Amino acid sequence: MIVVSGIQPTGKPHLGNYLGAIRNYVKLQDEAAAQDGKCLIFLADLHAISMPHEPQDLHASTLEMVATLVACGLDPAKTVLFNQAQVPAHAELQWLLMGTARMGWLNRMTQWKDKAGKNREGQSVALFSYPVLQAADVLLYQATHVPVGEDQKQHLELARDIAQKFNNDFASEEAPVFTQPEPYIPKAAARIMSLRDGSRKMSKSEPSDMSRINLSDTADEMAQKVKKAKTDPEPLPSEMAGLEGRAEALNLITIFAALAETTPDAVLAEYGGQGFGHFKPVLAEKLVEVLGPIRTRFVELKEDREALDAILARGASQARELGRPTLDSAYRALGLVRN
Ligand code: TYM
Repeated sequence: MIVVSGIQPTGKPHLGNYLGAIRNYVKLQDEAAAQDGKCLIFLADLHAISMPHEPQDLHASTLEMVATLVACGLDPAKTVLFNQAQVPAHAELQWLLMGTARMGWLNRMTQWKDKAGKNREGQSVALFSYPVLQAADVLLYQATHVPVGEDQKQHLELARDIAQKFNNDFASEEAPVFTQPEPYIPKAAARIMSLRDGSRKMSKSEPSDMSRINLSDTADEMAQKVKKAKTDPEPLPSEMAGLEGRAEALNLITIFAALAETTPDAVLAEYGGQGFGHFKPVLAEKLVEVLGPIRTRFVELKEDREALDAILARGASQARELGRPTLDSAYRALGLVRN
């Protein structure tokens, strides 16, 4: 079992990142440790430069993301925690895969279409080729399990296509260069939506801070955001069918169920018939119960920048070792000489 995943260090980590991905990093870290596997989690700082960003803020936000991940339960003794920029093999392998990835495949990526909008010509080449770097991230370590939210599923499918075409074109069936990675997507909470608009996903890049619960929010901020969250005037139904066409209500029930580690059906069985005036304070309390201790640890950890830098340096050195054999095989398979 080789677990690999990444998170961009720009913007504040939020509830969607936690329920969709980070919580599963921790779960799979422990499963991998129990069966002598490996877990590598990295800050995707090379991906972050595909969009306009502030260079002077990148180091600080990378360290804050490390503090967040450790506060959420990632243990640097069990997980190789690092940032891409310190492991050049990610960028090298991306280039080696560029000969295999097809323009048409990248053109179909919904994230590219969403982010580029009508202005494709004005986008960076990095934004277009972003999924090839993402493929390199996981293929470099022969990842078997890739914990992600629903929005990254298409990128993982592309990584599988690249692995398969590269193996077909440049390796033998008995000795493939790359392993096919499997996305590991939570059944519930794979796509947590904005608190202001149930048709948009909760996102770091959404301008309104009221649209998301940040992992660094205080209890009061969380309660305020839940109180102001968009809902409808109807009471909660007692069955899921009653949530059809009620995206905001469905989102709040999904969040509650994920936090309480139960099913949306069970939540509706308990709260069906009640209005949001009653349900919202209960949800706010649950958020504070689960996220409060994470915030407390985060606040403590983020002050010790030296310790956080040391975690990244150690992780990067382990990652460089772990990635070397696959990078070497990829160069060899392509006939590239490196004496
Ligand atoms: P990023 O930084 O946008 O998000 C990190 C993780 O959080 C998940 N996520 C969500 N899950 C549920 N509901 C939401 N509203 C929500 N928003 C975000 C994402 O699915 C992701 O798992 N391209 C990636 C980073 C990356 C990567 C990789 C991931 C780079 N290389 C290799 C996996 C493997 C990204 O921008 O994630």
